[in-house]
Amino acid sequence: MSRIKEREEKSMKILVTGANGMLAKAVKEKFKLDQLICTDVEELDITNLEQVEKFVEDCKPNVIINCAAYTAVDKAEEDFELASKINSKGPENLAIAANKVGSTLVHISTDYVFGGKLSTEEIYQEDDEKAPETVYGITKLQGEEAIEANTKDYYIFRTAWLYGEGNNFVRTMIKLGKEKEQITVVSDQHGSPTYTVDLADIIYQALQLKIPFGIYHATNIGFTTWYDFTKEIFKKANISCKVVPVTSEEFVRPAKRPKNSMMAKGKILEAGINVPSWEDALERYLKEELK
Ligand SMILES: NC(=O)c1ccc[n+]([C@@H]2O[C@H](COP(=O)([O-])OP(=O)(O)OC[C@H]3O[C@@H](n4cnc5c(N)ncnc54)[C@H](OP(=O)(O)O)[C@@H]3O)[C@@H](O)[C@H]2O)c1
Repeated sequence: MSRIKEREEKSMKILVTGANGMLAKAVKEKFKLDQLICTDVEELDITNLEQVEKFVEDCKPNVIINCAAYTAVDKAEEDFELASKINSKGPENLAIAANKVGSTLVHISTDYVFGGKLSTEEIYQEDDEKAPETVYGITKLQGEEAIEANTKDYYIFRTAWLYGEGNNFVRTMIKLGKEKEQITVVSDQHGSPTYTVDLADIIYQALQLKIPFGIYHATNIGFTTWYDFTKEIFKKANISCKVVPVTSEEFVRPAKRPKNSMMAKGKILEAGINVPSWEDALERYLKEELK
């Protein structure tokens, strides 16, 4: 079989929603050899069921990767209606449409569904009790439940502390670190920084390996705090700014941040997916960022 024929047979028709978002950029790059249909909100508003059904019926994708979301965690506290429409109704619409034409739905969720009250001696398993404390977390949980209620062929990847092309925590810290002699960073919130390139690769591997449908935790391997993460960024980027630890109580935000965002990765690793450590991911990201 010729290489071109082989590639054609392996290639999938993939619909990407929210195509201008941070994760979507990495998804588009990772799946560039597939038949990509990339849509922003103007082309496909996921909150509009009629539009979603017609679009999906017309293009009949093998896979829908939903990168659309309401991600402004603080703003969401004042905007339940819109956050719910995008994070809950949107995934529901996509699940209904995907189920009708037999597409696999890939959706991204968050550690915020747990609420973060678990002792930091422990880590969250996929089916642990959900207790979201923010509008963002509540609406993202509703999105998960809506998918589970409307289709069987789905992957929900819960991720956390995402950074990648565009504005993100790492870029902000580098900018501040270059401008200031010292900065304060929260040291009592624990989680796994996750590079969008690695999350896109996890999605890719899951589809290639056809791992069982369901919910998976999908972050880079290893845990840290925002404080230690910042110290590592400065070390790797040769920035001499001093990092001073502060507590969450000293750095109050409109939406309460989870103290424990640590999610177990056993399920995804056992499914055969290769996931790099957060330190390795940061190294690769900085190579691009500091070019
Ligand atoms: N960022 C994180 O730290 C983080 C952590 C955990 C989980 N996640 C999850 O990871 C996923 C990707 O996050 P991200 O950071 O890449 O998000 P993002 O950069 O905020 O991108 C979301 C995209 O969705 C689009 N969108 C909003 N409403 C829409 C609608 N009704 N129809 C279609 N598109 C719409 C937005 O367009 P406009 O910009 O034009 O509104 C934006 O381009 C999300 O599900 C998020 O909840 C993110």
